[in-house]
Amino acid sequence: MKIIRTTDYEGMSDAAFAAVKEAVLADPKATLGLATGSTPLGLYKRMIADHAAAGTSYREIKTVNLDEYVSLPADHPQSYAYFMRKNLFDGLDIDPANTHIASGTADPGEECVRYNILLEALPRDLQILGIGSNGHIAFNEPGTPFGSVTHLVALAESTIRDNSRLFEKAEDVPRYAITMGLSNIMHAKRILILASGENKKRAVSGLVKGPVTEDLPASILRLHPDCTLIVDEAAASLL
Ligand code: GLP
Repeated sequence: MKIIRTTDYEGMSDAAFAAVKEAVLADPKATLGLATGSTPLGLYKRMIADHAAAGTSYREIKTVNLDEYVSLPADHPQSYAYFMRKNLFDGLDIDPANTHIASGTADPGEECVRYNILLEALPRDLQILGIGSNGHIAFNEPGTPFGSVTHLVALAESTIRDNSRLFEKAEDVPRYAITMGLSNIMHAKRILILASGENKKRAVSGLVKGPVTEDLPASILRLHPDCTLIVDEAAASLL
C-alpha cells in the first residue's frame, strides 16, 4: 500500500482531488466508487469548484456508492442519497441516471441482489473510501468476511455513536444498512482510502501495521495491488 502523508484535512483533500481529477481526465467515461461521511467532503468541494472554474466534465462519468441506511427514503436529509446530491452531484454536470446508490426502502434482500448485479456491470476504475474509527470500510463492520458481497448489516454500537452527530439524537440513527461487501470493494482497479483526525489513528495504525484480519475490515486493502492511503498528521500519529 502506498501512503501519502499530509499536514491536515485540507492537504488530504487536495491530494485526493488531484487523483480523482487525473482519473476523470484520463477516462471521461470512468466509473467512480464514492463514499459518504465527513472525510470526502473536502474532495467533493474541490470537484465542484474545479468543474465550475476549469470545466472538468462528469457528463459521461458513472458513480456507484458504497452504502445506504435501511429505512431512510432517498429524500431524507440523513440518507446517503440526499448527502450525495447535496454535496456532490447537484454541483456537477453528471447525469443523475448514471449515479447509483442502494435503496434504503426497497426490500433489503432483493436490493442486495440487484446491487450486486449492478456492480458486476459497473466495475470501478477508482474507489474512494473513508474509514470508521473501528476500522470499518463502507458499513463492513469488524468480523465481516473478506469474501462478502453486498449485504444487509446491523451497525456496530460504535458506528451508531460516531454517526449520531449527524442526527438529532442517537435513537434516530438507523440500526441497519445495506453495504457493498469487502469483495466488491476489492474489485476496484484502484483504491484511495482517506483518513483525517485523531479519532482515526488506531484504525489507521491497524490498517498499516496490524495483521490482515477480518477484525479490522480495512486491513484487506493491504492485499490490493493498487491502493493508496492519504492520511493527515493526526490520523497518522501512531504510524
Ligand atoms: C460511515 C460510512 C463510511 C465512512 C465512515 C467514516 O459510517 N458508512 O463509508 O467512511 O463511516 O465516516 P467519516 O468520514 O464521517 O468519519
